[in-house]
Order: sequence, then structure tokens, then C-alpha cells
Amino acid sequence: PRKIIIDTDPGQDDAVAILLALASPELDVLGLTCVAGNVPLPLTTRNARVICELAGRPEMKVFAGCERPLTRHLITAEHVHGKSGLDGTNLPDPAMPMEEGHAVDFLIDTLRAQTPGSVTLCALGPLTNLATAFQRAPDIASRVCEVVLMGGAYFEVGNITPAAEFNIHVDPEAAEIVFKSGVPLVVMPLDVTHKALTTRARVEAFRALGTPVGHAVAGWTDFFERFDMAKYGSEGAPLHDPCTVAYLLQPDLFSGRHINVEIETRGEFTAGMTVADWWRVSGRQPNAMFMGDLDAAGFFALLTERIGRL
Ligand code: BDR
Ligand code: CA
Repeated sequence: PRKIIIDTDPGQDDAVAILLALASPELDVLGLTCVAGNVPLPLTTRNARVICELAGRPEMKVFAGCERPLTRHLITAEHVHGKSGLDGTNLPDPAMPMEEGHAVDFLIDTLRAQTPGSVTLCALGPLTNLATAFQRAPDIASRVCEVVLMGGAYFEVGNITPAAEFNIHVDPEAAEIVFKSGVPLVVMPLDVTHKALTTRARVEAFRALGTPVGHAVAGWTDFFERFDMAKYGSEGAPLHDPCTVAYLLQPDLFSGRHINVEIETRGEFTAGMTVADWWRVSGRQPNAMFMGDLDAAGFFALLTERIGRL
């Protein structure tokens, strides 16, 4: 199986992404590294353990990482995820412990210990942990297989500001470090995730699994981003983060372009914008596989089948 570390700020859609990974024998999840994002760090570390216990994996390693962006104040998204970050399904507080040590040290130590090119980083939140690791230990960048991240937007513009997507907007300086790191990047922007819509039938398919995990996923996907029906006028809400894990399992569900993507860090109205050179007009070197489309039916078929295994 392919070794991955999931860096995350759960988050209902993070939760579904983590469950998809834990349900999939093709992936060996070495650990979860938590970051502040959707909710503050004490809640993302709690939520990550709630998810592991739900999946029957209390032995999973969960690390606490950075509690604020590199240079900015933390922006959270309770208006999207609810006060707990995981509203929509009530689950008990976790009994499993946190690992000792910092998430950034775990990232650095693991990348140094494992065979070069064998570890993939799957990033579902602001990129603060990854950027801190790359800054502190420049030798690890060449050891990463690839970073598959949810973040950014191009034709679909922004969801937290008119120009920027949440994960990149929260910590643009961190995103800039990751996008300039030279590590192979696969980016799942809003252009893709706004096509992964949790229609009523898809939510009911999770519930119809008849399992505790199926019910939890139905509760979360029923709650999360539901307001988007009013916001975007779509039938369902976007299920962002699981696109990254689905890519690792079935890359042919996605299509995109290998292009240059720069992060706006200074703009008055555009901080965290992903300036994607879709038409290749800049002459700048490509640094990211920037996805633009997905097979939504295939994505939900995969997701539902895997969630049913837990
Ligand atoms: C991203 O922001 C968070 O709210 C979600 O978990 C996802 O990672 C979408 O913009
Ligand atoms: Ca997330």
C-alpha cells in the first residue's frame, strides 16, 4: 500500500476524506497531523480522534500541529462547520490519546526515516504544518512523493473572499512556501470540488448503508455547506476534501492541467488567491497539476462503496 500522512483541520469533509483513506487497503495511513483551520487546534485534534474511533482505529497516531498561521491571525469557519467543527452527527468525546510531540516533527522525522519518494502528503486544511516542516528541514522536500491538497480556485473564484478559497486564504504565506517547494503538487481547487455535490440521493445512499459510519457520514453531509444551495444555487453541497483521497485511489476520475500556480500574498482584496496559468500565458514553470473536472458519479460510487466497508 501507498504510505500517506493526512494533514487536516476536521471539518465534516475532512472527516469523510479520513474515513475514505482508512477504509481503503491501497493506502497505509502513517498518521494524522492536525492544524488550526475550520476550528481552533483543540477542536481539530479532538475531531480527528473522534473520526479514528468511529472508524474502529483507536491506535492511529494523531499529532497536534500549528495553532495559528505563519504570520496572520487565525480565521475559522464555524459558520460552515458549526461550533464543534463536526456538527451534524453527535459522537462521544474520544478516549484515545494524542501522540506526544509536534506534528511538524512527525512530518520531518517520518520523511527522513522512510525511503525517499515513498511518502505522500495529503493536505486538507491550511498549509501551515507542511510549510513549517519544509522551512525547518529543507532536505525533506526532495523525499516527498507528492503533495495532494485541497485548496484554491480559478474559474470558480473564492468561497471565503471573492478571490480566495478558505485553506489558502487562511495561510497564504504557508501556501506560497508549499507551491514554491519544488515538490510535485496535485491541487483539488473549488473548480473540482464544486462538482462533487452531495445531492439528496447521495446523502441517502450513505444512510442506506445502515452502519454507524454510514449514518455519521449522512448526518455530516446533510449539515455541511447546506447553505450553499442558497449561496450557489446548486442541488447539493460541495464535498471538498475527499477529492484528494479519491485521487490517490482512482486518479482517472479527475482531469486537469500541469501549469504554473502562484499564491497572492500581498493583495488588498486577493490575499490567498491561486493565480493559475490555465492558458499558459506567463512563461513561468509549471509547478502543480491543477485539476479542473471530475467524474462525480464515479467519485460518489467509490466513496459510498468504501464508506460501506467500515
Ligand atoms: C476547504 O475549507 C474547509 O472549510 C473545508 O474543510 C475544505 O478543506 C474548502 O474551501
Ligand atoms: Ca479541511
